[in-house]
Amino acid sequence: MNKKRTTWLYVIAVLLILFGLIQLIPYGRNHANPPVVSSPVWNSTQTADVIKATCMDCHSNETVWPWYSNVAPVSWLIQRDVDEGRVRFNMSEWPANPNAQSGLVGEMVRVIQEGRMPPIQYTLIHANARLSATQQQTLIQGLQASYP
Ligand code: HEC
Repeated sequence: MNKKRTTWLYVIAVLLILFGLIQLIPYGRNHANPPVVSSPVWNSTQTADVIKATCMDCHSNETVWPWYSNVAPVSWLIQRDVDEGRVRFNMSEWPANPNAQSGLVGEMVRVIQEGRMPPIQYTLIHANARLSATQQQTLIQGLQASYP
């Protein structure tokens, strides 16, 4: 074998070993969803379906964990998104009046309008979470009708 080839094999072997080793890190492996305490009441099943497809994996305790959420380092990124998403607001621990405290529904409308939510790393993988301008408007109307 020539020298260049040996070097490449060595690099690949080291990367494979590293990939194996990072799988042992516990962060990102606990996918036990906390209980659902209270849920929003949406104005229509259509609004509910769109919210489920676009927001709930990160902003609720009803996260669907795909197989790759078990593979580091992707698992670390997903865990961070879900942890931070749940801290911002959690649709499984939904307040009776979400607008009383922080204008929460108005915030949701704002980030949808700005195209910030759902985030790009999510829509890249979840094609059904990509909202057209019309779908954005329909979702916003649904949010506002549910919690005026
Ligand atoms: C991939 C996970 C993920 C999805 C899906 C997602 N969010 Fe978020 N969301 C986050 C994270 C992480 C933050 C906190 C960091 C940030 O603001 O980027 C956040 C923050 C927010 C905030 C706080 C406002 C702010 O300025 O930070 C609102 C409101 C919000 N999201 C609404 C939504 C709505 C509405 C949807 C669905 C249309 C949605 N999110 C979908 C992960 C997600």
